[in-house]
Amino acid sequence: MSLLSVHNLSIAFSTNDGVVNAVNGISLSLNKGEALGIVGESGSGKSQLVLGIMGLLAQNGKTFGSVKFHDKELIGLKQNELNKIRGDKISMIFQDPMTSLNPYLRISKQMTEVLMLHKNLSYADAKKESINMLDMVRIPEAKNRIDMYPHEFSGGMRQRVMIAMSLLCKPDLLIADEPTTALDVTVQAQIVNLLQDLKKDLDTAIILITHDLGVVAGICNNVMVMYAGRTMEYGSVDNIFYNPQHPYTQGLLRSIPRLTDETYTDLPTIPGNPPSLLNLPQGCPFQERCEFAIEKCSIKPPPLVTLSHDRKKACYRENVL
Ligand SMILES: Nc1ncnc2c1ncn2[C@@H]1O[C@H](COP(=O)(O)OP(=O)(O)OP(=O)(O)O)[C@@H](O)[C@H]1O
Ligand SMILES: [Mg+2]
Repeated sequence: MSLLSVHNLSIAFSTNDGVVNAVNGISLSLNKGEALGIVGESGSGKSQLVLGIMGLLAQNGKTFGSVKFHDKELIGLKQNELNKIRGDKISMIFQDPMTSLNPYLRISKQMTEVLMLHKNLSYADAKKESINMLDMVRIPEAKNRIDMYPHEFSGGMRQRVMIAMSLLCKPDLLIADEPTTALDVTVQAQIVNLLQDLKKDLDTAIILITHDLGVVAGICNNVMVMYAGRTMEYGSVDNIFYNPQHPYTQGLLRSIPRLTDETYTDLPTIPGNPPSLLNLPQGCPFQERCEFAIEKCSIKPPPLVTLSHDRKKACYRENVL
């Protein structure tokens, strides 16, 4: 049994201009201690997918399909039941820690409240546990710093405080949406190391959304490449990075600068823009930008088929070796 099993999940937003189809028939599964990276251009539906999984969509959003966590269906679950799972078993870290930390409350108050509420701990025990967690994410002098306010921490430290908070209840699943984007490179590397250790030491499953394919390679077992709310390719990090099969994945990988490149100025980009989610084309959403598109691509979207070893691709093109 998988820890998380998402089947044919779609998310639609109703707007004045029509229906925005942000996520279209995504399936994925995740076992204990596994990490899945989700990559794709801005607007491809990465954040809405995980918000949909957590039951945190905006008012105008609706979810279709199934999300099973520990074999329990989350879609349609009552808010109070969802709240319990969210605080306890699944937690999420966002790009900007200031959106999740309350600027007016000391870190100690914010952390201890979580444990007192979800784990019924006394204040003294909750504080001890919170300090342990700050130590674990390598906040120096955690014992003294815990009584500070969020603005008294640097950006990288705040992000670590956020990670510590999200791990307080020892969740089975940690969802991190661009946790390192706002940080400088050295701090990014520290957070990546931290997530690697957490996965190893606590056996926490991780879903990591990022634009940075290097971060994916450092942490994840599998990668899902999304485009216009669909899965284009899915497979192990090695498979996807060393032998990408989907033209979109190939384009994404070509557009990463390499240290061996003599100049960055000619970095190839994928020409064109993603289709409007208000009016998706009939066939493959990538057809207009794809150099290999054939007639069939404009008639019916290619199904996601398994190639080998749990590797999947949604493209009519024969495999290239
Ligand atoms: N409440 C909403 N109403 C209408 N459309 C929405 C709403 N929320 C999100 N969308 C649309 O859903 C699409 C997917 O957005 P999402 O935030 O998942 O993209 P993303 O892949 O996370 O992008 P980024 O990399 O920029 O964070 C976007 O086109 C966005 O405009
Ligand atoms: Mg996003």
